[in-house]
Amino acid sequence: MAWLLVFVAAPGAAAPDTTQPGTSAPDPAREAQLAHWLRDDCGACHGMTLRGGLGSPLTADALAGKPRDSLVATVLHGRPGTAMPPWQPFMTQDEAQWLIEQLQRGTPPTVTSAGGVP
Ligand code: HEC
Repeated sequence: MAWLLVFVAAPGAAAPDTTQPGTSAPDPAREAQLAHWLRDDCGACHGMTLRGGLGSPLTADALAGKPRDSLVATVLHGRPGTAMPPWQPFMTQDEAQWLIEQLQRGTPPTVTSAGGVP
């Protein structure tokens, strides 16, 4: 439970260098890459605003109460029998976990937040 309070108190996007418990935030260039994928690639199926399309919504509301580990596993390994592809070739477990944390907090990274990657 203590980690929850820490997350709520964390300053968020204003301080991307802040090391969060559990998952270390990616460096800014990598964060920009992940943000780019989230909007362009994940967004192609889950919607530009992540409210759903071919894939289910990835909003904080939609992900509330779902176990983080299983969502991270879905991102890394895809979901057999559905269109959800595995992302393990492109990102580490820590990065997938970081993405899910941001999505569950309702603060998905934006393409312009970090910059540095075309
Ligand atoms: C080709 C289409 C496609 C792409 C690209 C895609 N997804 Fe999905 N995703 C899906 C579909 C379809 C589902 C729903 C599977 C099901 O019905 O259980 C899904 C499910 C999920 C879930 C589980 C949601 C839940 O509520 O259980 C997560 C999390 C997720 N995707 C994240 C991502 C992320 C992050 C990316 C980009 C790195 C991504 N997806 C890219 C199609 C896609």
